[in-house]
Amino acid sequence: MIEFRNVSLAYNSKAVLDNVSFSARFYERVAVLGGSGQGKTTILRLMLGLARPDSGSIIIDGQDITELEESQLRESRMKFSIVFQEGALFDSMSVRENVAFSLREYSRLTEKEIESKVRELLRRLGIEEAIDLMPEELSGGMQRRVAIARSLAGCSPRMVLYDEATTGLDPLTAESICRLIRELSEGEPPDRTGLIIVTHKVSDAAKVAERFIYLRRGAIAFDGDMQHLMRAEDRELRIFTEELHRME
Ligand SMILES: Nc1ncnc2c1ncn2[C@@H]1O[C@H](COP(=O)(O)OP(=O)(O)OP(=O)(O)O)[C@@H](O)[C@H]1O
Ligand SMILES: [Mg+2]
Repeated sequence: MIEFRNVSLAYNSKAVLDNVSFSARFYERVAVLGGSGQGKTTILRLMLGLARPDSGSIIIDGQDITELEESQLRESRMKFSIVFQEGALFDSMSVRENVAFSLREYSRLTEKEIESKVRELLRRLGIEEAIDLMPEELSGGMQRRVAIARSLAGCSPRMVLYDEATTGLDPLTAESICRLIRELSEGEPPDRTGLIIVTHKVSDAAKVAERFIYLRRGAIAFDGDMQHLMRAEDRELRIFTEELHRME
C-alpha cells in the first residue's frame, strides 16, 4: 500500500502540492493526469524518497519514508522501478551497457549472467537486435523500450512508475508502448505488478489504467474510474477527456 497523508510541498514559497492525500495498492493501474507543472513528476519523486515533503507523510508498505535517512530508503525504493520523463539513456554507452548498468551496480552476477539477463530483457521488449547499437542510432520508440528495459533490470518491482512514457511518440509507436506497459503489468491482484503512468494524454492513460487521478494546481481534482471520468463535469478536466468523448 502506498499512502500520501496531507502531503504539502513548496519550492521557493510556491506551492507545488497542497495537502494531497490518496492511497493505492501496489497492484493497481493508475494514471496521474494533469497539465504541465501541476506536480505529477513531483508525486513520483516523493514516492521514491527523491524529494521530501514540507509536511504530511508518505507511507509505503506501512513505513513512513519521510522519516528515513537516505541510506534507509533503498529497500523501499526497490519496490518500484521508474522510467524517467527524460528517458535518459547514457549516450556514450551501447544498449547492452545501458541495460547492464544497474545489474552491475546492484547485483553480484557474473559477466556471463549479465549478458544473458540483458538479452532476455531485450527479447521480452522486442528489441534484442538493437543490443549493439548506440542510443543515437535508435528511434524514439526504441529508446523508450531500452529505458523500460533498463529500469526493470536489477529489480523485480511491485509497481512500475512511468513518467510520460508515450509523450512525443507517433500514435502507432505510443500504442505499442502502451501495449508493452500493459503486458509488463502481469499477474492477478494482489500479486500483479501495478503501474502508475503520468501523462497528459488521456487516450494513452485509458489504454493502460483503470484508475485516474487528475491533478490541478497541486491538488487532486478528480480520482475515479473510467465511467466516472467520462461523466466528470469539471470544465478543465473535460478539455483533457475531449478526445475520449469524440471517440464515443
Ligand atoms: N527541484 C525543484 N526546484 C524548484 N522547483 C521545482 C523543482 N521540481 C519541480 N519544481 C516546480 O514544481 C512544479 C511542479 O513540477 P512537476 O515536475 O511535478 O510538474 P509536472 O506536472 O510533472 O509537469 P510536466 O507535465 O511539465 O512534466 C513546477 O512549477 C516546477 O517548476
Ligand atoms: Mg513531469
